[in-house]
Amino acid sequence: MAKQRVLVTGGAGYIGSHTCKLLATEGYDPIVVDNLSTGNKWAVKWGPLEICDIRDNDALSLVMAKYKPVAIAHFASCCYVGESVENPEKYYNNNVSGMLSLLKTMNRNRVRKIIFSSSCSTYGNPQYTPIDEGHPQTPINPYGFTKYICERILSDYHRTQDIEFIALRYFNAAGADPEAEIGELHEPEPHLVPRILDAALGKADHFLIHGTDYDTDDGTCVRDYVHVLDIAKAHLKAIEHIFKFNSAEFINLGNGSGFSVKEVVNKVLEITGCKIKVIEGDRRDGDPAILISDSQRASEILDWSPDYPDLTSIIGHAWQWHRSKKSDS
Ligand SMILES: NC(=O)c1ccc[n+]([C@@H]2O[C@H](COP(=O)([O-])OP(=O)(O)OC[C@H]3O[C@@H](n4cnc5c(N)ncnc54)[C@H](O)[C@@H]3O)[C@@H](O)[C@H]2O)c1
Repeated sequence: MAKQRVLVTGGAGYIGSHTCKLLATEGYDPIVVDNLSTGNKWAVKWGPLEICDIRDNDALSLVMAKYKPVAIAHFASCCYVGESVENPEKYYNNNVSGMLSLLKTMNRNRVRKIIFSSSCSTYGNPQYTPIDEGHPQTPINPYGFTKYICERILSDYHRTQDIEFIALRYFNAAGADPEAEIGELHEPEPHLVPRILDAALGKADHFLIHGTDYDTDDGTCVRDYVHVLDIAKAHLKAIEHIFKFNSAEFINLGNGSGFSVKEVVNKVLEITGCKIKVIEGDRRDGDPAILISDSQRASEILDWSPDYPDLTSIIGHAWQWHRSKKSDS
């Protein structure tokens, strides 16, 4: 029987590429659509790469007509909170227009199912933790607003145009492929774990902590780190779910435990044995003190639980890949 094709927007990026590997392992055919704005060609290894901007309706429609996917895994987006505060237009344009273009093209090609990469940033400053899906959504930066708007668009299209969706609200993705074939590489790198690892490898002179006066045990921000492979696994489960049920779901993805920036630095020191120059700087705009997920719904609806909930695996795998990483050639 022919493999079922899943069109993966942003499949050359960090989480998308790990999901492609798992999709291929589980018998799907991942078709990557990516404009390579932050993704890497070398990370596309498990199916074809169509270089295309999802806002280009006609080009995207040709890709859908060519491959006839059964579902979409939609990762393509601008993803940096700080940049979104500086340049909101870029975020509303790419993330919201991108979603509208994708849905229009899905309608044109009669593709009805979509798994969307949403974010815990839709919640804003938490009123309580752990954060469940019923927590009020009051984003505090343009990135979070774009994800929130995309969720609302999906709800409206579900109501009026038969679009079925599962929006996965990830907390902090981290870690790498345990076989070290792929991992996280952005230029510049905004994410915490690879930034600390760059400092450990001497690729960065120091690691800067953004704020040490938060209302947390050690004064640094606390986040819920979820292994990238566990996020990939949730996509597999979401695809299985959306084939069985007429879905319109919002589901958190996190481990349910929080680690402070200083705790992550200490774990990197322990795992790598390297020295790191740590500088304590000021807070950044748009960073809540604590973000921890209640992932009960992921367990109930998707039968999902993390395989790698511990910081040692998450950082160990990231370190293993980081040491061996090759740049695009
Ligand atoms: N990394 C995290 O911790 C995290 C947390 C919550 C949500 N998310 C979401 O998960 C998704 C994937 O994040 P990531 O960390 O892998 O980011 P990433 O930057 O590594 O991947 C995004 C990919 O999308 C591509 N892309 C961007 N705009 C595009 C467009 N208009 N057309 C085609 N391709 C386009 C980029 O080239 C890149 O390959 C994003 O939607 C992000 O908002 C990530």
